[in-house]
Amino acid sequence: MLAPDHSMLWMRIKPQSRLTSSMARSTLSFVCQNCGAAYNRWQGKCDSCDEWNTLSEEDTTGATSMPLSVRSRRKGRTFALESLTGKSNDAPRLPSGMTELDRVTGGGFVRGSVLLVGGDPGIGKSTLLTQATSILARAGHRAVYISGEEAVAQVRLRAERLGLADAPVQLAAETSVEDIVSTLSQGAVPRLIVIDSIQTMWTDTVESAPGTVTQVRASAQALIRFAKKSGAAIILVGHVTKDGQIAGPRVVEHMVDAVLSFEGEGSQQFRILRAVKNRFGPTDEIGVFEMTGLGLREVSNPSELFLSERDLGSPGTAVFAGIEGTRPVLVELQALVAPTTLGTPRRAVVGWDPSRLSMVLAVLEAHCGVKLSGYDVYLNVAGGLRIQEPAADLAAAAALVSSLVNAPLPTDAVYFGEISLSGAVRPVAQTSARLKEAAKLGFGRAVLPESARGEVGGDGGLALNSIGGLTSLVAQIAARGNPRNNRDNNREGAAEKNATPARFRRENG
Ligand code: TYD
Ligand code: MG
Repeated sequence: MLAPDHSMLWMRIKPQSRLTSSMARSTLSFVCQNCGAAYNRWQGKCDSCDEWNTLSEEDTTGATSMPLSVRSRRKGRTFALESLTGKSNDAPRLPSGMTELDRVTGGGFVRGSVLLVGGDPGIGKSTLLTQATSILARAGHRAVYISGEEAVAQVRLRAERLGLADAPVQLAAETSVEDIVSTLSQGAVPRLIVIDSIQTMWTDTVESAPGTVTQVRASAQALIRFAKKSGAAIILVGHVTKDGQIAGPRVVEHMVDAVLSFEGEGSQQFRILRAVKNRFGPTDEIGVFEMTGLGLREVSNPSELFLSERDLGSPGTAVFAGIEGTRPVLVELQALVAPTTLGTPRRAVVGWDPSRLSMVLAVLEAHCGVKLSGYDVYLNVAGGLRIQEPAADLAAAAALVSSLVNAPLPTDAVYFGEISLSGAVRPVAQTSARLKEAAKLGFGRAVLPESARGEVGGDGGLALNSIGGLTSLVAQIAARGNPRNNRDNNREGAAEKNATPARFRRENG
């Protein structure tokens, strides 16, 4: 029964493929708009990235610039092979003049390198790069801003708003990569070129529409070639979209030297620049900015910003003394543990790894007798920061238990330490840097792993509360608690809660 169908299908496909190969090698393929994987027939799901409905038909004719007949006839050119010990010029960097940006790039833009800045639309990529090019231009470097999304007048308007209209930035609204490359090849080599955005660029060498994966990849390739040849540093802007209509910049990620991601909550003013990949520097540094009416302001002391709107004295909040790259950052973790009405209680987390939350909850249940199966659990990292360190375990556990037993934690305490599956609290790196930052910001005590005591030095006079196991932390917090049932219907309890911040403020100030 099946055989005739199969042969029918075969007949339909085969002659067409013979036809296309004998013609001008017009190669139609189905390209995943999410990851760039190519298939020769349509399918609902991309096998490579598991996304649905992301395949669209593209004409990849000429994706390589030379015709096949020429390519196969050409004999390879010989080149000299070199040794590892040769003298290579140290990557010459051009500091941008924005400390937070330089921190993330690893000290400035490397000559001939290509950087991709990704982020949601409206997050502030164009603002950041307008500021960066203006500062460089004012310092006397040739800086070029090519906008494929906005008209020259719009870019000027933004520059005026930022008070940068007088900066000698070279500006154009162009989308043809060939035109851009030949224009920029004239005159002095630009030190920095911003292409805003890569999705709007198109090149003659491929036939598919602008914004498709094939176009984005070919345009990026041409610009990267220009950067390497000329020595100019290029920044490509890329929008991250989820719906797969516009090709995400993911396909470009492996081609460029560094990928920076610009993040932040739309409703909040903080913006965090983070290196996802960096061939010339670290990837664990973050740059912190604040979006103001006058553009992005650099935040050199992020802890102050993240702690500026603390809800002092309410249960369920703990201050985590963390490290981002080389810089200590203090941030508030907020937890809410509330009785559930659902069969499967809800676990929601923003800014932290959900599987770490599950682990901490499991350890609390298994080793500390804290029963959480009847409760919904929410955990939030204040200020839109994303924490990757396991050192946040202890602060998260403290916030969770504090919320469960309705006991506010001391407002002048910071927490850090990794929790192991056995319930032990394990030491983490850079104890003294964390303590110093806490002391600088006026904190009076630190709750930390027991074994970290040995390496404490210059703790700034903080009272140290060493914790060997999670059980003792839970006992300490529970001893401060008042029973949950009193929480809502006891007016005195509420009055007492409100009095707490004042008391601690008096103690601290
Ligand atoms: P923009 O840089 O255009 O974002 P992107 O290029 O990432 O799409 O920034 C857009 C947002 O930033 C917009 O909502 C307005 C806001 N903004 C300010 O708040 N202050 C400013 O000075 C500027 C220029 C923009
Ligand atoms: Mg923009």
